[in-house]
Amino acid sequence: MLVDSMGDVVITNDGATILKEMEIEHPAAKMIIEIAKTQEQHCFDGTTSAVVIAGELLKRSEELIEQNVHPTVICEGFRLASDKAVDLIEGHGVGVDKKMLSEVAKTALTGKSAGAVKEFLSEISVGAVLSVAQEDGDEILVDLDDIKVQKKQGGSIKDSHLVDGIILDKERVHSGMPMSVSEAKIALINSAIEVKKTEVDAKIQITDPNMLSQFLDEEEQFIRSLVEKIHSTGANTVICQKGIDDLAQHYMAKMGIFAIRRAKKSDMEALSKATGGRIVTNVDDLSDTDLGQASTVQERKIGDSDMVFVEGCPNAKSVSVLLRGGTEHVVDEVKRAFEDAIGVVAVAHEDGSVLTGGGSVIAALSRDLRSYAEGIGGREQMAIESFSSALEVIPRTLAENAGLDPVNTLIDLRKAHSEGKSNHGVNVFDGGVVDMSKANVFEPSRVVEQAIQSASETAVMILRIDDVISSRSSGPMGADDFDGMEM
Ligand SMILES: Nc1ncnc2c1ncn2[C@@H]1O[C@H](COP(=O)(O)OP(=O)(O)O)[C@@H](O)[C@H]1O
Ligand SMILES: [Mg+2]
Repeated sequence: MLVDSMGDVVITNDGATILKEMEIEHPAAKMIIEIAKTQEQHCFDGTTSAVVIAGELLKRSEELIEQNVHPTVICEGFRLASDKAVDLIEGHGVGVDKKMLSEVAKTALTGKSAGAVKEFLSEISVGAVLSVAQEDGDEILVDLDDIKVQKKQGGSIKDSHLVDGIILDKERVHSGMPMSVSEAKIALINSAIEVKKTEVDAKIQITDPNMLSQFLDEEEQFIRSLVEKIHSTGANTVICQKGIDDLAQHYMAKMGIFAIRRAKKSDMEALSKATGGRIVTNVDDLSDTDLGQASTVQERKIGDSDMVFVEGCPNAKSVSVLLRGGTEHVVDEVKRAFEDAIGVVAVAHEDGSVLTGGGSVIAALSRDLRSYAEGIGGREQMAIESFSSALEVIPRTLAENAGLDPVNTLIDLRKAHSEGKSNHGVNVFDGGVVDMSKANVFEPSRVVEQAIQSASETAVMILRIDDVISSRSSGPMGADDFDGMEM
């Protein structure tokens, strides 16, 4: 539970989120946080693992330094070990099919509070990724921006679902408008639909009642012509990024137009992409070719508020996921877990290669690095051996967190691996060491590779520091800074 100075609470066991929210001053600690950020950006998961490995590498290097191994030698050893580990990972890769994608999602959701419904959420995440994935020759590309995750408090996690289109957390502006429009023709407007204010302050002196009514008539006329202009293009739906004047709302309702105001910029862009519509600034420029299309635009009651669903868009490569959960903290944590899940599914789908998890591949790497070290010899050998032992922090921590005996688990794991059972990892549910491919625990190769690489690079960077000097806080030194300084 993270509590900030305002008393706001975040409840999570997501490594990246914890590190992001923590108040950290120590410069080396800040470098460690960078690892989590890189990991999150490239692989969406494995942040805790990366940080835990980096911490263990630093701990092991301290022991080496005490034994008079020079940091430069340690760095060289770590670099060799990390390169070798990445090479070895390739040999453990397993191909990916649809079922495998959902196993990867389930592994990422294990241990999260949303883990109880991991089957359910993994289906949604695989569905979402597969519907936005694009094939480009041999390559598969997944742009996660095409999957919009919308959370709404209330209901239960099981009420979450995949929507083929875009969800807007908005309601229609006027109750006289239709609740739903089919064969929608959508005008996307990013300026206010109202009487334009003059640039300069103008004062209008009204001397008799006729003038006033004429003035008001003219305003009314102007608004009416704006709405008529929109209507004449054939639009039956208006999504406006700015405000819509009350009178304009009234006219739109009369003409049966469905309208939303103050839509988010990101939603406007997503709508433009999905519906094929063009975002227009000046209503006068609007024409029928600018309109986007959708088979339905509908307002639905979700929990105690209304949301608008734009479904059946011509560019189907744009989907939304509506996540539900009893309280704000629950939906927030479900969203974090779900984003990890779609992230790993996307990575696994793109790369087409996964590894068995639960510390299995890590233990195999640790074993193989030890024999690799023997071939290297010298002091680097010691560093590579330390690297190999440091990797075992993963299965050890998994055992600890699962309430198992870490020493016994590690002994069993080493035994299995010495017998060549490279898929054996920690059974976090029933204890002991089992074949992770039978237990269906898989994670993308990229996640493990990146975690080892960035942990080792950061450890090396920190090891190379031999002194910390505090630098000036305010910008580069100017000429004035030398005033009064003894030269
Ligand atoms: N069912 C499972 N059995 C054993 N290990 C698992 C299982 N599910 C996930 N893991 C392991 O948990 C680790 C990930 O833990 P997690 O808390 O998600 O941290 P990270 O932030 O590193 O992803 C990985 O090593 C993964 O293989
Ligand atoms: Mg994870």
